[in-house]
Amino acid sequence: MENPKRYLITSALPYANGPKHIGHLAGAYLPADIYVRYLRAQGKDVVYVCGSDEHGAAITIQAMKEKTTPKAIVDKYHAMLKSNMADLGISFDIYHRTSAPIHHETAQEFFTALNNHGDLEIKETDQYFDEAANTFLADRYIIGTCPVCGNENAYGDQCERCGTSLSPEELINPRSTLSGNAPIKKQTKHWYLPLNRHEAFLRKWILEDHKSDWKSNVLGQCKSWIEAGLLPRAVTRDLDWGISLPAGIEGGEGKVLYVWFDAPIGYISATRQWALDNNKDWKPYWYDADTKLVHFIGKDNIVFHAIIFPVMLQLHGNTLPDNVPSNEFMNLEGDKMSTSRGWSIEMEDYINDFVKKENGGDMMVDALRYYLTAIAPETKDSEFTWKGFQETVKGELVDVFGNFVNRAFVLMHKLNKGKVPPLHAAVLDDADRKLFEEIASAKVRIEGLIETYKFRDAQYEVIDLARKGNKYMQDKQPWIVAKSLEAEPANQQLIDNCMHVCLQLTANLAVFINPFLPFAAKKMCYMMKVVDKMLEWHNGGSTKLLSVGYSLREPQLLFRKIEDAEVAEQVAKLKTKSSKLKEEKDPVAPGPVEVAATPAEDKVEPLIKQEIVFDDFAKIDLKVGTILAAEKVAKADKLLKLEIDLGFEVRTIVSGIALHFDPDAIIGKQVVVVANLAPRKMRGIESNGMILMAEDAAGKLHFVRPEDAVNNGSGVS
Ligand code: 2FM
Ligand code: ZN
Repeated sequence: MENPKRYLITSALPYANGPKHIGHLAGAYLPADIYVRYLRAQGKDVVYVCGSDEHGAAITIQAMKEKTTPKAIVDKYHAMLKSNMADLGISFDIYHRTSAPIHHETAQEFFTALNNHGDLEIKETDQYFDEAANTFLADRYIIGTCPVCGNENAYGDQCERCGTSLSPEELINPRSTLSGNAPIKKQTKHWYLPLNRHEAFLRKWILEDHKSDWKSNVLGQCKSWIEAGLLPRAVTRDLDWGISLPAGIEGGEGKVLYVWFDAPIGYISATRQWALDNNKDWKPYWYDADTKLVHFIGKDNIVFHAIIFPVMLQLHGNTLPDNVPSNEFMNLEGDKMSTSRGWSIEMEDYINDFVKKENGGDMMVDALRYYLTAIAPETKDSEFTWKGFQETVKGELVDVFGNFVNRAFVLMHKLNKGKVPPLHAAVLDDADRKLFEEIASAKVRIEGLIETYKFRDAQYEVIDLARKGNKYMQDKQPWIVAKSLEAEPANQQLIDNCMHVCLQLTANLAVFINPFLPFAAKKMCYMMKVVDKMLEWHNGGSTKLLSVGYSLREPQLLFRKIEDAEVAEQVAKLKTKSSKLKEEKDPVAPGPVEVAATPAEDKVEPLIKQEIVFDDFAKIDLKVGTILAAEKVAKADKLLKLEIDLGFEVRTIVSGIALHFDPDAIIGKQVVVVANLAPRKMRGIESNGMILMAEDAAGKLHFVRPEDAVNNGSGVS
């Protein structure tokens, strides 16, 4: 949109169901914050809203897990998320929450408006009901086999392995996560948003009007959704946690709005609350055509923000999003990031380990922001490694940016008595002129990149400009020129020019880096004795940010190296955390249904694990053995204690197969054992190995064993 009058920027509302990791930060929060800081520096009218998503099964499932109430869960994690975001410099104008009364009111009004205009359809349908738990089942409470990829633990709304959006009816062998039973069908009435009525609008608005400015991952998902045929989507649920349907709606008692209906309306209610707090009018942000609305999200939220919410907004007469920049996922140390599996770096943990420690604070916020932007998954999944973090911070922030600024200040104190020297036109040369030109042209490129949501490349341009500064200084060598001053006092003019250029570049770098690394930029302002106002974007690209003769402060440390010991500690911490969580779960485990860990967390399971080399495989010692004895382990439904003859010895192995086999029926059977697995205690019994099992589509386990009997102790390869 050309010249919008105002901007309304949103980041996806995170579920207040647990800590969020740095992959979330990199996906929907940091890029939005960079964009917003850039707009603010240009003096634009911009409001940046976010808040906690406090409804839906994500919350109630977590409450069950923590054996507490949904209210206690949202209160706890809302507070955590709000303070984490602030600690990491995410500069929301408001961080709101969907449990707030103003949000309930806004969402109910929205529903009423659509319902009164005949924009919703009411249907009586048969839905899954858990008789044991006496409740209808939300999509997230039903799991079964994905019809697309065969994942046996796909949710009723999405298969997290292949990413397909599903409805519970599509699952093969559905099971309730509450009781583990197969649910029955029971009739109930619901309100639907008939997306099918809006196909023509969506085709034109997305696939034509936005075909060249939306990212290809967003367009691709929208296209395949539309091509697959749009269906009415239920916007109400039979639940007791959520926003009740407005009073007076016939048959609406005991029903709530579907979380994905109310959550995006959270952007509107947050804006309303911000306006109340700041004595502003919220309506132009949501009703005027000259508002630029941009939703920053992760890729699992695309259809909700690019298809469903826009249909709602259109029907309600609101501003439509101008763009929906969506990132792919960030992996961690070779695996998918996941809080529930312990393979993640929580924002909370990073803050405790680096930001709230003496050695770093704000510097370490900037360091994380820098690396996350440098590896941002803008076009494809990317990978965070602690080593990569260490190397990038050292190689780019410390050695390039920090080094340039520091040298400029140290030399200026040494060679120019702590003051900005004049520029002498008579000795100005091509290199000086070129660097000024570089500043101006970098500004144009950075602007273009930020405005098209290419933050990784934009940040690269800033560092590259600092790199050019280093090269310029290295070529000019003012410290060498200084040695000639006694014999040739006029050479001071050469030094002055070089230092003048370097200091003006430093000031420009502060303007350019500010959206990315706000803490470093602020420190640079302090060093240059200028107020933060200098960081306004129109100042960038100027050669005259610092006045001649102005005295500057001593340089401050902007960045610090990350020590090898810190890297080692974090890698070890990650491994310990994930193996601890693994141990807490059943070791063999595919057994019947367990309450889902953290829904909407592990979005896409890889179909196949990460590639290994032959040597990795060769480390596993597989041996054939025969089961000599089998008995149930007391107070553990799933565990059997087995005695297995491996030829050279008899082993005790505890295995999570009790729900699949009668102990007496498996005695004498041959099995394949992982013989060199480290011993581990289960229910007080030391288990020395693991038996290989195959799991069929119905979740039943089968022994993997040689076709013909072989000697116990035979190797398997
Ligand atoms: O996927 C999620 O984490 C959702 N809580 C995002 C909601 S974004 C918006 F619609 F509020
Ligand atoms: Zn699937």
